[in-house]
Amino acid sequence: MSEPTALHELLLAWFARAARDLPWRHTRDPYRILVAEVMLQQTQVERVIPKYHAFLAAFPTLAALAAAPTAEVIRLWAGLGYNRRAVNLQRAARAILEEHGGHFPRELAALRRLPGVGPYTAGAVACFAFEQDVAFLDTNIRRVLRRALHGPDEAVPAPDDRALLASGAALLPPGRGWAWNQALMELGALVCTATTPACPRCPLRGHCRAYAARLAADEALVLAMGAGGPARPRRIAERKEPPFVGSRRWYRGRLVDALRAVPAHSALALVELGPRVKPDYVAADEPWLRDLVADLARDGLVRLEGDAVRLP
Ligand code: ADE
Repeated sequence: MSEPTALHELLLAWFARAARDLPWRHTRDPYRILVAEVMLQQTQVERVIPKYHAFLAAFPTLAALAAAPTAEVIRLWAGLGYNRRAVNLQRAARAILEEHGGHFPRELAALRRLPGVGPYTAGAVACFAFEQDVAFLDTNIRRVLRRALHGPDEAVPAPDDRALLASGAALLPPGRGWAWNQALMELGALVCTATTPACPRCPLRGHCRAYAARLAADEALVLAMGAGGPARPRRIAERKEPPFVGSRRWYRGRLVDALRAVPAHSALALVELGPRVKPDYVAADEPWLRDLVADLARDGLVRLEGDAVRLP
């Protein structure tokens, strides 16, 4: 895409007008951008903001994070969930010090080799820290591109990530990748939301395939109703997700929370830890508990010392 088009101007102007003032949009420091992007992967913006400030106050530089005891990093991650991200973030900081002489890598391929850094995070750091014109997908960008370029959510076949990434890359306005990707994300977060998109106030509605299909479907419905057709609009399919409470991931989170609650450098015996995460814990649950602890130890989140467990 070499020429700025109406579509680009519409979205970029909307972003300049409507974007939230978010702390990580004021920096190009790759360390700060990495911290923000890792936190934002599975956690809501509002919850991330205070944690982002607290984390950077405790570990203001890559070197400070690399040098910290891992237990400290895990403690500061409290409330964000998916604790493995904290361990990987510190591993990435250590890798940058040890393998890159403390210089943050700029190339996508080198970023991808850092612990915990997948295609999304590598793209986000390359773009938001180094202002490279790269396309990448997160939940919001994926949804906006899918709807705008390919059509309604229920349209089949759904485009796969390769196709979305290719159309996303073709659409990227040269020299404006930073604002463009921020704007796509912001549109997905504020307007083109998953369940109730606010199409009437979307700057892209005149260019959006999903919106065109929605208008056509509404017109067809109005015509059918006039002809004595269906009186009830189509019902949106309900989402069925397995319960989180009681899942393995939920217990992993509770185990790490229980260890955060004990004084620094202290360990907790398995027989004490069990009842703290499972009120009806009985001796027969020990193999289950050991298995969970072994899993957490493999991920570098806890250390098992005989029959006692501690943060690493
Ligand atoms: N989610 C992930 N990255 C983000 C960013 N840079 N701004 C807003 N939300 C985000």
